[in-house]
Amino acid sequence: MGKGAVLQADWYDYPQYYDLAFRSETPAEADFIEAACRKYGSAETRHLLEPACGTGRLVTELAARGYQVSGFDLSQPSLRYLRRRLARRGLQATVFHADMADFRLDSPADAAYSTFDSFRHLLTEQAARQHLQCVADSLRPGGLYLLGFHLLPPDASDECTERWTETRGRTRVTVTLRVLDTDRRRRIETLRVCLLVRSGERVLRLRHDFAFRMYTARQFRRLLARVPSLELCDVYDFWYEIDHPLELNDEISDTVFVLRKHEDPKPQWTLHDSRNRERKHLKRPGADRFGG
Ligand SMILES: C[S@@+](CC[C@H](N)C(=O)[O-])C[C@H]1O[C@@H](n2cnc3c(N)ncnc32)[C@H](O)[C@@H]1O
Repeated sequence: MGKGAVLQADWYDYPQYYDLAFRSETPAEADFIEAACRKYGSAETRHLLEPACGTGRLVTELAARGYQVSGFDLSQPSLRYLRRRLARRGLQATVFHADMADFRLDSPADAAYSTFDSFRHLLTEQAARQHLQCVADSLRPGGLYLLGFHLLPPDASDECTERWTETRGRTRVTVTLRVLDTDRRRRIETLRVCLLVRSGERVLRLRHDFAFRMYTARQFRRLLARVPSLELCDVYDFWYEIDHPLELNDEISDTVFVLRKHEDPKPQWTLHDSRNRERKHLKRPGADRFGG
């Protein structure tokens, strides 16, 4: 490739640079995961699951903090990077290749987490619902799912560019993330990420365009209502202030949902009583506070 040429490639195929770009967020996220498990968990948390774990920033951090961690992803380069990283640090975790919309765990997790928009890679309502159902099926009763992603307020501007730089040793990564297109009818946002990597004399310029599904608060509430085994406990933003849960409304953008699998795994209604079933739905814990 010529000097200054831009490589068009999947940025998840360059896990070392992706990881460097997000690494500084890791301790605060891991602290929040632990604090949320203490606050909302019904029993001790030992086994954690990360769907779409990528390079395993959090898998590694939480394994180092003593948890049994399972993580999976679709990106083989990211999984290879994670396995090497665990081996280098003498840590253990269960790492496997799977799709967020179709996976199973051998033994139930006490809590699952997905902190950074991975969920929005699922582009249809059906895939998103299947994901939430797979997570619910992978949790023990009372288990938690901490799900972080950006909501789009209905009146948000479609223009958005973010840029940041992270450095480690001789390697410096600048990430520029730009919204190229917002299709509100199809609920698809097209983003372009540009990586500029300088490592000594070497320079890599990479560009990757990809799609995310869009959610308003109301759209996510509607989706969640279709997975009755999960209840909404509380909502936070990316400041991760565990003592300050927020209102779920259209003001909030960077959102972390605390979801909990019902303690009672039995269906909460009988098949013959549809009136009762409707009422129970409306009575789901948290419904009042979040407007159902
Ligand atoms: C924004 S990254 C987040 C990675 C990691 N969770 C983190 O916080 O650093 C999104 C990840 O989702 C993965 N991914 C995208 N679609 C997926 C799917 N359908 N199933 C599993 N992983 C998927 C990508 O390969 C990528 O590693």
